[in-house]
Amino acid sequence: MLAILGAMDEEIELLLADLHSHEELHFPGVTLHRGELGGVPVLITKAGIGKVNAAMTTTYLLMQGASQVIFTGVAGGVHPELRVGDIVISTDCVQHDVDVRALDYPLGTVPGESPAWPADEALRAAAVVAAQEVGGVHVLSGRVASGDQFIASREGVQRLWTTFGAACAEMEGAAVAQVCAKAGVPFVVIRSISDTADHDANVDYRTFMPLVAQHAKQVVRGMLARL
Ligand code: ADE
Repeated sequence: MLAILGAMDEEIELLLADLHSHEELHFPGVTLHRGELGGVPVLITKAGIGKVNAAMTTTYLLMQGASQVIFTGVAGGVHPELRVGDIVISTDCVQHDVDVRALDYPLGTVPGESPAWPADEALRAAAVVAAQEVGGVHVLSGRVASGDQFIASREGVQRLWTTFGAACAEMEGAAVAQVCAKAGVPFVVIRSISDTADHDANVDYRTFMPLVAQHAKQVVRGMLARL
């Protein structure tokens, strides 16, 4: 079954509104919504913010039979060409806030684990086509950098760009990716740019959230029509 996660209500409520045969499954701290979206059986859920919530929720989804995972939501743009409203489809995900350099591991690497988790190629390709159908926005395939930090400074953006070659910054994707990789379950992250992670990030984020949430929904619906 296909699973769709977002971090916040705004990121999944448009999808939930279209869900048929809606049934709720309750877990500690998380509600999973099971039903049909455009005729496709799906699980939809709000993970909550940050890597811990994302990892926990992904685990519940996998235990309920999720065999493909899509994370959808908003992100801060890091790639210099990105503007608010543009869409990033993950090529891979990294955890930019992991720092075990004192033990000689490269920045971002969890000891004993992959330095980055690649997205599934078929899901990625379907997401790119669906994102291009939104129209009027730039669609970029690139690296998603996740960490338990809201990035809101030029220095923060510069660090993610030069150290990781990140396209965008958010707070969950790499945790979902890490759990999916362990289970051998394909995933992709789709992020609409709500801000450019600079000094105006907090204002832009609140202002543009409704528009970009709409874009994110369109991409997921477009993907469902192709899977
Ligand atoms: N999600 C949306 N904007 C973000 C930012 N600037 N940093 C981290 N997560 C975000």
